[in-house]
Amino acid sequence: MSTHILEVNELKTYYRTRLKEHVYAVDGVTFALEEGKTLGIAGESGCGKSTLALSLMGFYFPPLHFGGGSIIVGGRDIMKLGKEQLRSQVSGREISYIPQAAMNALNPTLRIIRFIEDIMKEHRPELTKKQVWDMAAERFETLNLSPRVLNAYPNELSGGMKQRTVIAISTILNPKVLIADEPTSALDVTSQKAVIKLLKSLLDKGFIRSLVFITHELPLLYHVTDDIMVMYAGEIVERGTAEQMIFDPIHPYTKKLMGSIIVPEEGMKGHKLAAIPGTPPNLKNVPEGCRFADRCKYAQEACRQGKIANKTLGDRTYRCIVEPETLREWYANEGE
Ligand SMILES: Nc1ncnc2c1ncn2[C@@H]1O[C@H](COP(=O)(O)OP(=O)(O)OP(=O)(O)O)[C@@H](O)[C@H]1O
Ligand SMILES: [Mg+2]
Repeated sequence: MSTHILEVNELKTYYRTRLKEHVYAVDGVTFALEEGKTLGIAGESGCGKSTLALSLMGFYFPPLHFGGGSIIVGGRDIMKLGKEQLRSQVSGREISYIPQAAMNALNPTLRIIRFIEDIMKEHRPELTKKQVWDMAAERFETLNLSPRVLNAYPNELSGGMKQRTVIAISTILNPKVLIADEPTSALDVTSQKAVIKLLKSLLDKGFIRSLVFITHELPLLYHVTDDIMVMYAGEIVERGTAEQMIFDPIHPYTKKLMGSIIVPEEGMKGHKLAAIPGTPPNLKNVPEGCRFADRCKYAQEACRQGKIANKTLGDRTYRCIVEPETLREWYANEGE
């Protein structure tokens, strides 16, 4: 039987701008993550991936606000906890989040060991400096990172090394779930491979139990994750295994997204998403019905009426009123 390590139900979060407008960046997101699994999140820029990742931590600071729903970690709803409990019991221990571009946000005036000392001061105050050092050195060695890095300042490290160091620091308390937001972006191919290897070894060694991986690089998701979830305009439009999502997408948006990286008979071509004509809707004022309808060549009148429900097909979920068989026929007829 599978155990859910994370369960998110109808999560809604929004930004409140200075003009008091609301940007509904995460708008009714429901999904679960099984222990031992890796889940990839894909979607065009601005669809809410980073906001979802941030929202899962349970910390809300203006302009981001909680709008409703639940986030169940280890059997309890973290939205029912106070800030202090969140900080001491959940953040870094249950879930760790590595923000987009986190490696560039390290305070350049502090040696790497200081970041680890700060975490331990909060969570393991009984440890001496020497014990923290030994523990960190052992962890770095196990992860194939030189313990010498602990003495370095962030800017003395290469981009790839800095990213791996950030990942090692963020997982020092063995969080059950690690959420990594674009951890391989802006790195060369060799460094990307090293980061992937590190993430895999964190899972293999049991330092983390599940991984949520956000990236624009769809081929990476195929090689790294068990499942892929596609977001569009604040909603999840489809989820399935990496194989299903890449080679047999149901939702027309997933189809377009994957079409930009797949060449029939040859497998995957590019690494970056090709542009899809049109733009996503404004998240301050989303249209009624399917949010992709304006860019979907298969859209019908019914697509623009009422809320489009999530449907299931085996283990897969998708948000489209048309039946998968019909969609597949249409794709074949269009040579897509
Ligand atoms: N501080 C903010 N105030 C208001 N709106 C914001 C703020 N941060 C993000 N947004 C808006 O929220 C929406 C979702 O943004 P988010 O950064 O989550 O997207 P993303 O999918 O991570 O994009 P990318 O792929 O570029 O990282 C976008 O419309 C964005 O403009
Ligand atoms: Mg982002």
